[in-house]
Amino acid sequence: MTEKKIVFSGIQPTGCITIGNYIGAISQWKILQKKYFCIYCIADLHAITICPEKYILNKNILDTLSICLACGIKPEESIIFIQSHVPQHAQLNWVLNCFTNFGELKRMTQFKEKQYSNKNVNIGLFNYPVLMAADVLLYQTNKIPVGKDQIQHIELTRNIARRFNSIYGNIFKIPETIINKNGFCIKSLLNPKKKMSKSDINTNNFISLFDDDILVKKKINNAITDSDNPSIIKYDLYRKPGISNLLNILSNITGISIKKLEVELKNETYNDLKKYLIKELCSFLKEIREKYYFYRKNEKYLNNIIFSGAEIAKKYANVSIDKVFNAIGLYKI
Ligand code: TRP
Repeated sequence: MTEKKIVFSGIQPTGCITIGNYIGAISQWKILQKKYFCIYCIADLHAITICPEKYILNKNILDTLSICLACGIKPEESIIFIQSHVPQHAQLNWVLNCFTNFGELKRMTQFKEKQYSNKNVNIGLFNYPVLMAADVLLYQTNKIPVGKDQIQHIELTRNIARRFNSIYGNIFKIPETIINKNGFCIKSLLNPKKKMSKSDINTNNFISLFDDDILVKKKINNAITDSDNPSIIKYDLYRKPGISNLLNILSNITGISIKKLEVELKNETYNDLKKYLIKELCSFLKEIREKYYFYRKNEKYLNNIIFSGAEIAKKYANVSIDKVFNAIGLYKI
């Protein structure tokens, strides 16, 4: 296959991508490309578990691809493809279903949450983590960069792989997670105890990569700061969750460490910190948006990328599918 270790990750084409998604996932995907052989997948089959509207899903797939490219995913270095273009994902998903216990899936916290917030609790929603396991195990993945909310799913993936291997021999590599070193995730602007989420009903809780300067200004100015005394700018998740969140965002988009920012802003007010963050965020988002529109316009280029991405992915995926079908005794002509 390749000398380099394999990294796999997926992103759902849900349209809106927040600065939290960027910092927690895509920015890390970009960095990993230097050291690893990276396989990135736009998880459209996962997205249909919440039954999105046909045209919206269709549009979101190319939007998400363009965002990934705008954020620095390089198709010359990494593989990027659409999950449904590689049917082996669904094939392995079915096999792995037969090695997963009902009770294991019932314990998944994300399913429990979705169960209460969705009117339509379909089996796809329940099965979601097994499809993730198939995604990862198909490519003999070594490392998976994920956010904290996905750790339980990766733990399940490892358990399914171990179970399968204990019956059939060494078929799957047991993957490990990479948690972003800035992994304490970006929090909601109005409630810094909660994760910043694109599905939040109140859009003032998050900054989307598509928020224009006026919106960024409004949202950051409204962001909760802490009422403790003295009002110095200091990273302290316990006493200053609001300020810490703003510092965390600023540090991630400027590349300046939080320690340095604390020194730099020692004598400044909360308002100065907000002004600084607004300025940096606006220019950061402007650059991403410009690149995004450049790619999004060029559908032919996008189609070429995902076509060749899927072709390469299929080659790797087929090796695993052959091994698995052989191991379990499916008849082959
Ligand atoms: N479920 C993941 C999320 O919403 C996306 C995803 C799909 C994924 N397949 C994956 C992540 C495989 C890691 C590995 O964030």
